[in-house]
Amino acid sequence: MNKMRVGIIGAGNISDIYLAAPSKFKNIELAGIADLLSHKAKEKADLFNIQFYETPAALMEDPSIEVIVNLTIPSAHAEINLAALDHGKHVYSEKPLATRYEDGKKIIEKAKALNLRVGVAPDTILGAGVQTALQLVNNDKIGKIVGAKAFMMGSGPEGWHPNPAFFYETGAGPLFDMGPYYLSSLLVLLGPVDCVTGIAQTTYRERTIKSLERAGETFPVTTPTHVEGLMHFKSNVTASITATFDIHQSKLPFIEVYGSKGTIHVPDPNFFGGPVTYLAEGEDGWQDAELVSDYIGNERGLGLSDMIASIYSNEQHYCHGELGLHVLEVMEKLLESSVERTFKPIETNFAMRNQREKV
Ligand SMILES: NC(=O)c1ccc[n+]([C@@H]2O[C@H](COP(=O)([O-])OP(=O)(O)OC[C@H]3O[C@@H](n4cnc5c(N)ncnc54)[C@H](O)[C@@H]3O)[C@@H](O)[C@H]2O)c1
Repeated sequence: MNKMRVGIIGAGNISDIYLAAPSKFKNIELAGIADLLSHKAKEKADLFNIQFYETPAALMEDPSIEVIVNLTIPSAHAEINLAALDHGKHVYSEKPLATRYEDGKKIIEKAKALNLRVGVAPDTILGAGVQTALQLVNNDKIGKIVGAKAFMMGSGPEGWHPNPAFFYETGAGPLFDMGPYYLSSLLVLLGPVDCVTGIAQTTYRERTIKSLERAGETFPVTTPTHVEGLMHFKSNVTASITATFDIHQSKLPFIEVYGSKGTIHVPDPNFFGGPVTYLAEGEDGWQDAELVSDYIGNERGLGLSDMIASIYSNEQHYCHGELGLHVLEVMEKLLESSVERTFKPIETNFAMRNQREKV
């Protein structure tokens, strides 16, 4: 097994699942962990029995580390991604790639110039749910694609996350925080976007932490929290996304894809599994599709493992930087179009590799 030594930067909420990834994905060899708050990294290093680095810079300077996994908050993503590349490391970043499209472009340009890889979450697009939906599309189950709808409907993360303020800063909000799951899935299924327009609002200017030690504390909201977006794709189909942290509950689907002969109901793109159901001409009512893989649990690390395997096999990895940049451009331009009351063309493009049988 061709492995790579991986250093994690960011020892917060999501780090546990990445720290546990080597037990599932054997080409990931954990070298160590660092955080701006060194005590957080120390705690995780002790828990998972890996090396603790006093600072992120110290981790980046370790010549034995080949890949940096960036699990910091979104506003730090660009800085850490660029620094990792400057240190000659491949980087796999939590979403979004950066909080500004301009910074995202710099990351991709630098990686190309240095011949290094950039991987971007979400790797749920490699999960059984999205991949099964993709197989139905590719097998012409629903005919010629007409369009799709995506609904990210919720009341925000302050109900469960211990430090939720970052979710309400520029570069987060429902579109930048959760949108990448929905948009990446739509892009896998429908291809690149050609132009967008959106309407966005900030319904509440202040939010209150609802759980754990800081319950009752309030914090300001500086980004839109209720977003309606329209997308026209290069394949000449249209789709819409609603992304909100401002509603109580909804019975709307997560994602539906519509074709000339049927409809696919795509499961929650924040998760890896099914069920995937579809309705197709000539078949008796809604059917449960047979899932194409057993990636149905919390498989975070799958995209990183795929990137490592792809470096060795000299193939494109699945959750790649151009896809992450395209998602970022779409999100930024959706919000810009809302301010400007315009349609915005999308300048980036991407291509996808077929799914690999097994990582
Ligand atoms: N929490 C989840 O369920 C979840 C799920 C999927 C993806 N994500 C993504 O993972 C990332 C991290 O989320 P989280 O929930 O773990 O956040 P968190 O706030 O719990 O942890 C982030 C960590 O990054 C550290 N940090 C911040 N700036 C830094 C810097 N410049 N250098 C080094 N360390 C720095 C913080 O000290 C903190 O320990 C985000 O991009 C988020 O969107 C989170």
